[in-house]
Amino acid sequence: MTHAGPNRRQFLAGAGAVGTTLVAARGVTAAQRTNAGPLRANALDEVRFGLIGVGERGFDHVRSLIMLDGVRIVALADLYDDVLEKSASEVESTRGYRPDLINGDEHAYRRLLDRDDIDAVIISTPWSWHVPMAVETMKSGKHAFVEVPAAQTVEGCWALVDTSEATGKHCMMLENCCYGRSELMVLNMVRRGLLGELTHGEGAYIHELRFQMKDMDRHTGSWRTPWHTRRDGNLYPTHGLGSVAQYMNINRGDRFDYLTSVSSPALGRAAYAAEIFPAGHPRRQAHFIAGDMNTTLIKTVMGRSIMVQHDTTTTRPYSRLNLIQGTKGAFASFPDRIALAGAEDEHADWDTDMAPWQARFDHPLWTGTADLAAQHGGHGGMDLVMMWRIVACLRAGEALDQSVYDAAAWSAIGPLSAESVANRSNSVDIPDFTRGGWETAKPLDVVGV
Ligand SMILES: NC(=O)c1ccc[n+]([C@@H]2O[C@H](COP(=O)([O-])OP(=O)(O)OC[C@H]3O[C@@H](n4cnc5c(N)ncnc54)[C@H](O)[C@@H]3O)[C@@H](O)[C@H]2O)c1
Repeated sequence: MTHAGPNRRQFLAGAGAVGTTLVAARGVTAAQRTNAGPLRANALDEVRFGLIGVGERGFDHVRSLIMLDGVRIVALADLYDDVLEKSASEVESTRGYRPDLINGDEHAYRRLLDRDDIDAVIISTPWSWHVPMAVETMKSGKHAFVEVPAAQTVEGCWALVDTSEATGKHCMMLENCCYGRSELMVLNMVRRGLLGELTHGEGAYIHELRFQMKDMDRHTGSWRTPWHTRRDGNLYPTHGLGSVAQYMNINRGDRFDYLTSVSSPALGRAAYAAEIFPAGHPRRQAHFIAGDMNTTLIKTVMGRSIMVQHDTTTTRPYSRLNLIQGTKGAFASFPDRIALAGAEDEHADWDTDMAPWQARFDHPLWTGTADLAAQHGGHGGMDLVMMWRIVACLRAGEALDQSVYDAAAWSAIGPLSAESVANRSNSVDIPDFTRGGWETAKPLDVVGV
């Protein structure tokens, strides 16, 4: 499927020229940004943050930000006073000041965007709010950092790309799993050629979350559960896929070409509802259609294959798979293990002793922030490393590790997988959100700190 609509076709017809003019008109020169090239914004002495949505996830971000130098949390917006107060108290007790609190109706967050004392906005709201809030953030002259998945429609993905290009503002999806210790180590190994030429990867979000179905009026399950009645496909593709895409230089030398997707029956949520909710309860009346396990296969332009799975319903241990293989061997996670050609007993078994590998290949971002992450690091430290890195890049005026093209390409797997499932798993094209820029964009560096 390609992105249709007369306006988009007109736009694409002169993509290079029109894109450049549009961007230049908003004060961003071609030197700062070419299509899919790294966006470098003005360096900031101090990064002044606003946060929209300080529920479960937004509070995690507050707790990371208050650990970092060169950061001020200026304002918080949410629908509920209790979560605003909880975050404000956390800032006050650690940093000695209170951010301004913005409440009111569901559009009150615009008062945060209207301010001129905020550089960057972190958006941790329910999925349907991500695109409108990120687009409005960039249009208000601020960088947008949006939770996963960044968009739920292909049109939404394009809106993020178009707005970032037009405004010259960052739009980064907060894919924290790219900053996990294992993921960063594998990126380092891959860049050093340890696995040879990459051929295949696997990523997943396998995490039983049926307990969230008990949330009815507010909290995560209240808005997340209905998605299982709306769409049969991968509802949350980016946690496992993001790191595999970085290993493979997706949007920087390779790109997603097409996918095919298949879902299992949707049984587990109805079974859970029948077990724990009384007769007549809305959860028992809901018609769950998202297959318990969705499996999507992506083919890249360079011919590589990627399997992406989603299952938040089945009782089984958590996994993001994190498998990557090449001509010289393979790495997989949950638990971490490696097999390399030329090892003493290369066909016998995985090597599961990670300590020697970590000693040699732990990523400098991980080792450089280990003390801070150990003190306070949600999700095993990755949240803190991600925020540390974002702040460091913004303060140095450097490109971020995840571009708006990554946000779009990784998130688009959600709606496109549903399209394939609905059409007997026929293949579906994945748009080139870089408009050809992937061919010349340089791979991500393995950075130091
Ligand atoms: N990266 C991760 O590891 C991770 C983990 C958990 C959640 N998430 C993502 O974070 C996001 C939020 O999830 P959550 O679990 O925190 O949900 P949540 O329901 O706990 O929090 C969402 C918050 O947004 C607020 N909100 C809703 N509409 C709003 C509006 N119009 N204006 C202002 N505030 C509004 C709600 O009041 C709530 O406090 C989701 O996109 C989710 O996918 C990511």
